[in-house]
Amino acid sequence: MGSERTLAIIKPDAFGSGRAGKIVAHLESEGFRLVAARTVRLNQEGAEAFYAVHRGKPFFASLVDFMTSGTVLTLALERKDAVARLREVIGATDPAEAAPGTIRALYAESKERNAIHASDSLDNARAEIAFFFAGVELA
Ligand code: CMP
Repeated sequence: MGSERTLAIIKPDAFGSGRAGKIVAHLESEGFRLVAARTVRLNQEGAEAFYAVHRGKPFFASLVDFMTSGTVLTLALERKDAVARLREVIGATDPAEAAPGTIRALYAESKERNAIHASDSLDNARAEIAFFFAGVELA
């Protein structure tokens, strides 16, 4: 596969504890190019819309509370096989199950406060980049 774009969100736990820079450096060291970056404070409506696919799940309300609890850093990232590679680099949702050296193994606190989000498919990557960077001309 050729060069792709995907979306990452450095979540309120990692951003609020001053780990955004280390995580961005980790991503760059794995060959991701920063196409766009924006700090965002999501409101309830925005978080519910972003995570609409999880509506109805037992963790949905708590996830929305967490994602609206502080500033996040949204990143549009580019590299070869970006969607699959980013998911490898961030590790499993639950940091207890994340492979050593992955971002969640290094920085996440729990399954919910798990430091970073990544798009799970190319279609979702396009939609999620549009969600945060609509109207922005990407470099
Ligand atoms: P993310 O990759 O952002 O996608 C959905 C998020 O929901 C996930 O990371 C976790 O933060 C959260 N999540 C998924 N499963 C659970 C769970 N079982 N309990 C709590 N939070 C969860």
